[in-house]
Amino acid sequence: MTRKHFLVIVMLLCIPAALSAQSAMNTLVVHADAAKDTISRFIYGQFAEHLGQCIYGGIWVGENSSIPNTRGIRNDIVAALKRIKVAAIRWPGGCFADEYHWMDGIGPRAARPKMVNTNWGGVTEDNSFGTHEFMDLCEQVGCEPVICGNIGSGTVKEMSDWVQYLTSDGDNPMANLRRKNGRQEPWKVKFWCVGNETWGCGGIMSAEQYADEMARYSQFVKNHGVNRLTRIASGGLPEDYRWTDVQMKKWKSADGWLQGYLGGYSLHFYTVPDWNKKGSATNFTEKDYFTTLKKTLEMDSLIVKHSAVMDRYDPEKKIGLMVDEWGNWFDVEPGTNPGFLYQQNSLRDAMVAAVNLNIFHKYCARVRMTNIAQMVNVLQAMILTRAKEMVLTPTYHVFRMYGVHQDAVQLPVDLQCESYSGEGGSIPALSASASRDRAGKIHISLANLHATKAQGVRCELKGTTGSTVSGEIITASALNAYNDFGKKEAVNIQPFEGAQLRNGVLTVALPAKSIVTLEVN
Ligand code: AHR
Repeated sequence: MTRKHFLVIVMLLCIPAALSAQSAMNTLVVHADAAKDTISRFIYGQFAEHLGQCIYGGIWVGENSSIPNTRGIRNDIVAALKRIKVAAIRWPGGCFADEYHWMDGIGPRAARPKMVNTNWGGVTEDNSFGTHEFMDLCEQVGCEPVICGNIGSGTVKEMSDWVQYLTSDGDNPMANLRRKNGRQEPWKVKFWCVGNETWGCGGIMSAEQYADEMARYSQFVKNHGVNRLTRIASGGLPEDYRWTDVQMKKWKSADGWLQGYLGGYSLHFYTVPDWNKKGSATNFTEKDYFTTLKKTLEMDSLIVKHSAVMDRYDPEKKIGLMVDEWGNWFDVEPGTNPGFLYQQNSLRDAMVAAVNLNIFHKYCARVRMTNIAQMVNVLQAMILTRAKEMVLTPTYHVFRMYGVHQDAVQLPVDLQCESYSGEGGSIPALSASASRDRAGKIHISLANLHATKAQGVRCELKGTTGSTVSGEIITASALNAYNDFGKKEAVNIQPFEGAQLRNGVLTVALPAKSIVTLEVN
């Protein structure tokens, strides 16, 4: 035996002891023998609103910009989005959608009318990024468009015409107008939101009023040719289960009509413990960190409760629960326009992303799409830009590391773990999910939410025996570590050496405040 072999054996023997010195051993059972549902790639969707510098500056710089672009769309952004396999982008809002009149955003740019973006900073919107530009973005990224139609200040005809303009191959006024504007072939549009937050900025409607409007609009949002739309109804406030009940009842009662139309129901939930005191994105304490995680874990019970209502009407799960806005919402960065919602993004955001993605994986039988808010320069962004510079945030790196779960079969997990106690209670110290991809590889994602305590995990793989394990980790020296312009990345994906697989038992040593994805072969 060489000295190297001897050292490796000593190290392996010592790992369990080292783990128990750090903490009580947590256990995770991965049921590879109970795989059933698929984790849709659309769970990894994005949201891009005409808000602050998400579109203008963040995505769109125009063809004459010195920033490298393809037909006005930033090349660096497209390349970064392709790396995380962005599957869908929701556009043009948000609240903006219900003030947006799509015809203002087609035709020669110089002739497009301007408008005031009353929701977001009162700035002038010149409509230079419109339908053709958005569809070009989706084609460059290789993702599906999720278009949010205007119910609040629009008309049924306006929405119906937009669908025809986009997807019809016929000889009709809208398809011909599209051709005149330079696009011969119709596009494919998979997802269509019939309004946004119609209880509030989308029209201040009652649940009953919206149910009627949703049915009326849905009938005129047509499938043209081979295009098949998944129409998504607007949800109520996060905890408004009655709203869900009213929409589902309408769906059920309109047999033959609405049942054929509706494919999704939207839930919006932002991680904001106190809307009057949102706090800084980077200047926070461990107490704030704990409160944020406790809040974000409420996503689990929201999904369970809305799903329970949906199950009563739709036990076959024909309608997907689309969490088409989620993420952290903090105070804007000092000195920036309060209406632009520009915030930095730290290891805390990475943890929130990991926890939510694990929850979405768990409920993937019902949760078919989610769209984090928002893609660039707004709220919990993937990417921040400053002129020609670009920063990939910790949240971006979670999406990149977790990309292995896209379209993989979910493996149910049983997690027994320690608690992490803080202000106002305690939360599980760990969060986990697992899947098996088409090549048969098993991926297990584990997050240690505890700010200061490492955790050992003993993981049993039921129904399979892996022989090798490798991994990646996202962590940093501080909870509020973030990536900034002109600096080396403080938070990124690193190789992870803390997992061992012996006799079918996987042992993992998770550092405090870390997120790990393991690959078992
Ligand atoms: O993402 C910002 C805003 O939050 C959206 O415009 C709106 O739908 C939600 O209230």
